[in-house]
Amino acid sequence: MADGLANSPGAQTRHSHAGTIALGEMKMDIDRSQLVEMLRVDEFPRSSKYDPIWVFENEMGPNVLWITEALSQVMDLKPGMRVLDMACGRAMSSIFLAKEFGVEVWATDLWVTPTDNWQRIREAGVADSVHPIYAEARSLPYAEGFFDAIVSLDGFHYFGTDVHYLEFYMLKLLKPGGQIGIVSPASPEEVPQPPPEHRSNEWHWMNSVDWWRRHWERCPGLEVELAEALPRGCELWIHWHEALDPTGMSHQGEEGAASELAQLRADGGRHLGFVRMVARRTGAAE
Ligand SMILES: C[S@@+](CC[C@H](N)C(=O)[O-])C[C@H]1O[C@@H](n2cnc3c(N)ncnc32)[C@H](O)[C@@H]1O
Repeated sequence: MADGLANSPGAQTRHSHAGTIALGEMKMDIDRSQLVEMLRVDEFPRSSKYDPIWVFENEMGPNVLWITEALSQVMDLKPGMRVLDMACGRAMSSIFLAKEFGVEVWATDLWVTPTDNWQRIREAGVADSVHPIYAEARSLPYAEGFFDAIVSLDGFHYFGTDVHYLEFYMLKLLKPGGQIGIVSPASPEEVPQPPPEHRSNEWHWMNSVDWWRRHWERCPGLEVELAEALPRGCELWIHWHEALDPTGMSHQGEEGAASELAQLRADGGRHLGFVRMVARRTGAAE
């Protein structure tokens, strides 16, 4: 595996001498190269280099490497930039950004401890450039204007729907002229009320892509550069389930994963997908 990630502890313990990988409760044996193929998608060549077992073991939602790569394709990321990765979960996106773009990342999260992330960061060989931080999104321990860029992958919708959030808590941490970018689950079309039958109540929180655009357009000091449905968003989400679910490693458990997959298939991308959004802080650089 490229990038030394094959040496992650998960990869080692799951490697049998027979050359197959025993996955989730010994559910099935799959060859590692098969898993690599299952996670390969044309639009995300960088993600394909990472160990699929590492990705599965640390997943907290639809492939964070894919959505991080999707965001990186529409943001200006340059070596040495200081990047806030807000709601980084198990820090795979932070590790990816440091490795792929040479940026320095503050991997910030609430549910995953910094000690847990620090171990993963060191094992991935990016201890010099990824810093694990424990923080709540409304109490971020950073200096104003510190970051060159802010990203949030499958995280911003947990705290960023309050109309005041960006203005009061986050935007001031970004340098004027710097970009903020997110990818979060969102409905490509406006969600009807009542919602379509195939969609369970689990999605009560999901807003549309247009909702997100309007939400950020209302924020003073911010210029929206892109707000779109991630191309092939629903297909990618289905593809993710089809690769992950048979391994028995989904954090959602067998039933939860199957239910989500059934809804995604029934939806076909009308009301289930992702928003990809980038905006720039306005004002003169300091
Ligand atoms: C679905 S997980 C996604 C994690 C990671 N970005 C990924 O895609 O694998 C959502 C993350 O949002 C973080 N989060 C939710 N609410 C938060 C808050 N109020 N402050 C900081 N982080 C929060 C959680 O800690 C969690 O790790």
